[in-house]
Amino acid sequence: MMELELNNITKKFNKVIAVDDVSLQVKPSEMFFLLGPSGCGKTTTLRIIAGLERPNRGTIKIKGKDVTMVPSHKRNLAIVFQRWALFPHKTVYDNIAFGLKMRKMPKEKIKSKVENILGTVGLFGFEDRYPRQLSGGQQQRIALARALVINPTILLLDEPLSNLDLNMRRKMRIELVNLHSQLNITTIFVTHDQTEALSMADRIALMDKGKIMEISTPYEIYESPKTEFTAKFIGERNFIPGKVSLTNKSKVIVESDKGLHLQIPISARAPLSKNDKVNVFIGPEKVEISKKKSANQENVFSGEIQNVMYLGSIKKYQIILECGEVIICDMQTISDSDILNCCPGEKVIVTLDPQSCVCIPKKAKKEGAY
Ligand SMILES: Nc1ncnc2c1ncn2[C@@H]1O[C@H](COP(=O)(O)OP(=O)(O)O)[C@@H](O)[C@H]1O
Ligand SMILES: [Mg+2]
Repeated sequence: MMELELNNITKKFNKVIAVDDVSLQVKPSEMFFLLGPSGCGKTTTLRIIAGLERPNRGTIKIKGKDVTMVPSHKRNLAIVFQRWALFPHKTVYDNIAFGLKMRKMPKEKIKSKVENILGTVGLFGFEDRYPRQLSGGQQQRIALARALVINPTILLLDEPLSNLDLNMRRKMRIELVNLHSQLNITTIFVTHDQTEALSMADRIALMDKGKIMEISTPYEIYESPKTEFTAKFIGERNFIPGKVSLTNKSKVIVESDKGLHLQIPISARAPLSKNDKVNVFIGPEKVEISKKKSANQENVFSGEIQNVMYLGSIKKYQIILECGEVIICDMQTISDSDILNCCPGEKVIVTLDPQSCVCIPKKAKKEGAY
C-alpha cells in the first residue's frame, strides 16, 4: 500500500493556480523530493499534505485512508520549515518536548524520548541551551529532533537546509541520508536545489508552474529527461536547437539552426517526424575533446577552444565549432588527456557521442506526462 497518495490536487489563491492537478504516490520509507523553481507550488503542495491548506479539488490519502477533510493535528505528520522556527525563549529540551507535552505524555516518558532523539541527531548534552547558543547546523538538527520525536507517519521538510552555508549544507545532506536509512521514515523533501535532490532522493517529482512535469529516479531524470523543462532544469547541459532532417528505423538526423548535422539513435519514447523542431541536449561531461582525430565516426566536429575555466576537480572548456555552435565540455583534471594543457585558440576535435545525445521535441508532445 502507498504511504501517501495525492489525486488531482488543485489549489487556487484568487486567480493564481498554485497547484494544478497534481497526482503522485509515495512509497513507505521513501525519500521523495518535490523539486522546482521558486514559486512553482512546492510549499503549497507540502502544506496541503500537512493539512495546513485545503485543496479546491482532489483527494489526499495516507496509508490508504482518505484524509482530505482530516485536520492537520490528526494526520500525525511533522513538518520542518526553511526557517526552523524554534521557540527562542525555550531551551532545547523544552523545544523538543513541546509536542509531547501537548499530547499529555507523562514526564518520565518525555524525558527518555527527548534524550533518545537528541542522541539520534548527535546533540546529547545540549538540553539546557537556548537556540541562540547553537550554530545554524545545530538549530537545524534540533528542529529535526522536534519533528521526529512525535514519531510522525511522514516527515515533511520544506527547504530545511537553505539557511545553512554550503559546507554545512553538504554535511547535513549526508547526515539526513544516514538518519533516513536509520529511521526509515517516509520523507517528503522540498527543494529548489537540483544537486540536493539528485544526491539524496529515491525519486524526484519535478514541478513547474503548479504542475508535475516528471517523476523519476535521480539517474533517470538526469540521463533520460523526458521534457524540455527537465533537460534545462536538471544539469547544465549543452542544448542545440534544430529540426529533424531525416528519420529512418534506427536514427534521426537533426540539422541545427547553425547547420550542424547530428546523428541520434531513435528513442522509443519520443517518436519524431521529419521537420519536427527539437532541442538536442548533451551533458558537458559527455562531450569528448581531443587533439587527434577520434576513432568515433559519427558526430565528430572540428572546433577551437575559446576559453578554459579551472574548477579544481574539472576544467571547463568553451569550444566554438566551425559552424558557429558553442559547446561546453568538462574534463576531469585527473585524466591523462593532452587537452589539459591546451589553451584558448588551439584547434581540437569534438565528439558528441550519439548515445549521449537526448533529443526532445521543442513542444514535447507529452509535456507533463510521466
Ligand atoms: N497564501 C497565499 N496567498 C496567495 N498566493 C499564494 C499563497 N501561497 C502561495 N501563493 C502563490 O502560489 C504560488 C506557489 O507558491 P509556493 O507554493 O510557495 O511555491 P514554492 O514553494 O515552489 O516557491 C506562487 O505564485 C505564490 O505566490
Ligand atoms: Mg517554498
